[in-house]
Amino acid sequence: MTRVTAALEIAIAVAVLTATTIAQTTSTSQPPETPAMTTASRFPPGPGRDALFKVCKECHGPESVLGQLKTRDEWSKTLDEMAANGATGTDEEWNSILDYLDKHYSLILVNTAPAKDLALKLDVPAEIADEIVRARTEKGTFTSIDELKRVPGLDGAKLDARKDRLIF
Ligand code: HEC
Repeated sequence: MTRVTAALEIAIAVAVLTATTIAQTTSTSQPPETPAMTTASRFPPGPGRDALFKVCKECHGPESVLGQLKTRDEWSKTLDEMAANGATGTDEEWNSILDYLDKHYSLILVNTAPAKDLALKLDVPAEIADEIVRARTEKGTFTSIDELKRVPGLDGAKLDARKDRLIF
């Protein structure tokens, strides 16, 4: 056996050992994911999330809102329908659920929404939202995400994260 082959065999043995150790560590240190963990991780944290989980957990669970994009008014209507279906919560819970859905699962009307609305949904400071409104008033409506990204101080990554929600 040449020295090169011996070195190679040692290297392979080390690699196999390492892989086995990693596999063992992974399988023992991570408990199987429970449905609760999976559901929670799909919803951004923030006010209203707990109320959503509490009030919407019967019947179909909070997952029903995933993949849905509605305006605030439409969400408000959906919540009225759910109350009619039998969902129960305090006024405070219903209000915080509506705010949460509006913030995270609503359409963003880039050319018509008031600055306050843009600040909430794009998660930007009021001055940046004012800047968007000023730009669209002075230069005309935005027609694409790339145009919107040119607003000074606006974080492009925040827009990319919300690109499916932007309506021009
Ligand atoms: C008491 C049972 C019940 C509870 C609690 C409940 N729902 Fe529903 N939900 C239903 C039923 C029944 C349907 C299907 C029929 C319909 O659309 O009304 C539905 C459908 C939906 C849909 C899909 C239809 C649509 O209008 O977009 C959404 C979204 C939804 N629910 C959201 C919620 C949210 C958010 C909550 C918590 C605030 C909630 N639900 C709590 C019974 C419930």
